[in-house]
Amino acid sequence: MNIKVNLDERSYTIYIDAGLLKNVGNILTEAGIGQNVVVITNPKIGYFYTDILVTQLKETGFEARVIEIPDGEEYKNLKTIAYLYDKLVEMHAHRKTTLIALGGGVIGDIVGFVAATFMRGIPFVQIPTTLLAQVDSSVGGKTGVNLTTAKNMVGSFWQPQAVIIDPDVLKTLSLREIKSGLAEVIKYGMIKDASFFEYLEKNIQQIERLETSAMVHIIASSCKIKAEVVEADELEMDLRAILNFGHTIGHAIESQTSYQIFRHGEAISIGMSAATKIAARLGMFPAKDVPRLTTLLQMAGLPIRFKDLSPNDLLQAMSLDKKRVSSQQIRFILPKKIGCVMMVEDLSPQIIIDVLKEQKE
Ligand SMILES: NC(=O)c1ccc[n+]([C@@H]2O[C@H](COP(=O)([O-])OP(=O)(O)OC[C@H]3O[C@@H](n4cnc5c(N)ncnc54)[C@H](O)[C@@H]3O)[C@@H](O)[C@H]2O)c1
Ligand SMILES: [Zn+2]
Repeated sequence: MNIKVNLDERSYTIYIDAGLLKNVGNILTEAGIGQNVVVITNPKIGYFYTDILVTQLKETGFEARVIEIPDGEEYKNLKTIAYLYDKLVEMHAHRKTTLIALGGGVIGDIVGFVAATFMRGIPFVQIPTTLLAQVDSSVGGKTGVNLTTAKNMVGSFWQPQAVIIDPDVLKTLSLREIKSGLAEVIKYGMIKDASFFEYLEKNIQQIERLETSAMVHIIASSCKIKAEVVEADELEMDLRAILNFGHTIGHAIESQTSYQIFRHGEAISIGMSAATKIAARLGMFPAKDVPRLTTLLQMAGLPIRFKDLSPNDLLQAMSLDKKRVSSQQIRFILPKKIGCVMMVEDLSPQIIIDVLKEQKE
């Protein structure tokens, strides 16, 4: 299945199907990618997929080389970027060299940022290998790295030439990573598509078994929703903020636990359930639908509660979030009903504290 992301001259196609990794050469040829490509990955992902990819890239006439960087979010920094620039110079990469990001969100963000800046911008292609990267980070063109003091603080908007998604690669991914990615999938249902939400309620078991037709469906539906939002607001001026549903509290939970306890999706699962409870308390979301979300999250194996964290500290962390509107107000995306959210900027801190207290185990 193909999804077109329409961004004028920066438009590109997302290709989604089981087995696509064995067909990347043909897809890149169809997408008009030049012959000189450099695959960037890490040893963990490379162990499973570099050979398959590089062999058939060569068979289809590409000159393909590989660079590996160490695995881990702690390497998503400027030192790795500098290392990659040097490697590319050493390899005589040029303006028509295309970088291929083979990996999860960490690899995608790093490679995207190198592509955005090396020689003032070269083409790149995303081959996302985690569910989170397949439904979220590989689509939309946000690239960047962390500073020691703040996550994703340095970056750029840079769109790929193509995104190639093969759900089969998820078979080597840990169950915890799959579940974490599912939180973003459930988010798309909540923010924009009630019938997709119902599909998830009915098919969660097939999804957990990674059945191909269910995976293609949820990845394609998620990418479609993300693409629509990005098309309407490429540079995150307003509408794109709806993608942050669950993230205001989720980011606070992640930072308060120094990114050690929860995977991103786990933190936003707690964040989505808290935001929905806040909306129900305000009378803007039907209280009877709160259990639909919490049940689906739990069926997906995601947490909706936390322990050992203080609601007051979480509130404090929320007002330090870089996406805040002003120093006083915390911007919240709250649901009106399943499939529809809105931005609320004048939320009383007390209601946030009350709901967080309720969420604490
Ligand atoms: N650019 C964006 O719009 C955007 C959006 C969301 C998140 N992000 C970023 O994405 C990053 C998180 O990405 P992630 O959750 O994919 O984590 P990740 O890239 O660290 O991958 C998780 C782990 O799974 C391994 N892995 C990846 N694919 C595998 C496979 N198929 N089989 C076996 N192991 C595999 C990785 O090596 C890693 O150890 C964060 O840095 C976050 O800031 C970016
Ligand atoms: Zn997220």
